[in-house]
Amino acid sequence: MSLKKGLLLCLLVSGTSLLLYFTYIPLTKKWLERTEEATKEHFQEVSGIYYVAYPRKYEFIIDQPDICEQQKPYLVAIVPVPPGDVDARNGIRNTWGKQKVFGDKVVLVLFLIGLHSGNDEEILQEKLRNESQQYKDLLQSNFQDSYRNLTIKTMVMLEWLSKNCQQASYAVKVDADVLLNMNNLINMLVSLNSVQHNYMTGLVWDNSIVIRDPSNRFFLPYDVFSRDTFPPYPLGMCYVISMDLPQKILQGAREVKPIYIEDAYLGMCLEHLGIVPTKPPNIELFVVRLLKYNRCYYSKLIAILTENTNQMTSYWTDIYSSSQPC
Ligand SMILES: *[C@@H]1O[C@H](CO)[C@@H](O)[C@H](O)[C@H]1NC(C)=O
Ligand SMILES: *[C@@H]1O[C@H](CO)[C@@H](O)[C@H](O)[C@H]1NC(C)=O
Repeated sequence: MSLKKGLLLCLLVSGTSLLLYFTYIPLTKKWLERTEEATKEHFQEVSGIYYVAYPRKYEFIIDQPDICEQQKPYLVAIVPVPPGDVDARNGIRNTWGKQKVFGDKVVLVLFLIGLHSGNDEEILQEKLRNESQQYKDLLQSNFQDSYRNLTIKTMVMLEWLSKNCQQASYAVKVDADVLLNMNNLINMLVSLNSVQHNYMTGLVWDNSIVIRDPSNRFFLPYDVFSRDTFPPYPLGMCYVISMDLPQKILQGAREVKPIYIEDAYLGMCLEHLGIVPTKPPNIELFVVRLLKYNRCYYSKLIAILTENTNQMTSYWTDIYSSSQPC
């Protein structure tokens, strides 16, 4: 098969799902301008940027080191969010992040940010310190917050969990535009007969195709990852891990070179550890498709990717403010 045909096929197979998949920052102009005439030599020359430097030396400059010890959560929810996106944080604080106790289970919701870069850097940093004092739910690490650094964000999240929350049973990583029905998530976890180990679940994708089209934002050159498909991994929008995993993944990651696609990278680490992600009891519980909103249907799911904080907030409000039974 010619390179051109191969690229087309990849595009056809993966394009449809990816279309709905992300709304991350657009590619730089340089990448958009690149055509498929790019040669293999060229890929090799630039492939350094598909690796993410993760030197394990980042530190938390805003931290809540004792919060797990104090609150003894069953589940810790971590939401990676850009430093400047206070609206997304407030949206979650006012919706699914509001309720902290479910029966005898305590839930902790924390926001994970990196460093902001830009001319308003110092003002924003002061605002963040204020926000942290007010809500005590911010974790800030000292790497530069950017889309290409999402894998670093995930790895420092695992470092934080492994260092500070060993006594919790589970952690869940939730993107800011996800509507989370916390109650359903806790019920699912409690219904597992015992606290799980080597457990990672979410919308598990098997055989996710590696994108070879240089104009696609998920493009990876062959010399960075040569297989046609990634090992199975739960989509980054929302995944749950048992609390033994952060440490194990960090250990395994020492031998798996990081790529910038954070969820696929976790799949690579799991595979290295010989761990297979667990499918949830019903795969439909974690939903990425842009389904037509339906209150009763949405209220039965665990995580639904929405378009933005406003949409998430309005769905959540509708689901939880109505007393109409489903
Ligand atoms: C942070 O809080 C202090 C004390 O309440 C206030 O004086 C200051 O203006 C706040 N800073 C920002 C950037 O909002
Ligand atoms: C990622 O973070 C590191 C550490 O702050 C920084 O040196 C690098 O420029 C960042 N990369 C991107 C693509 O933002």
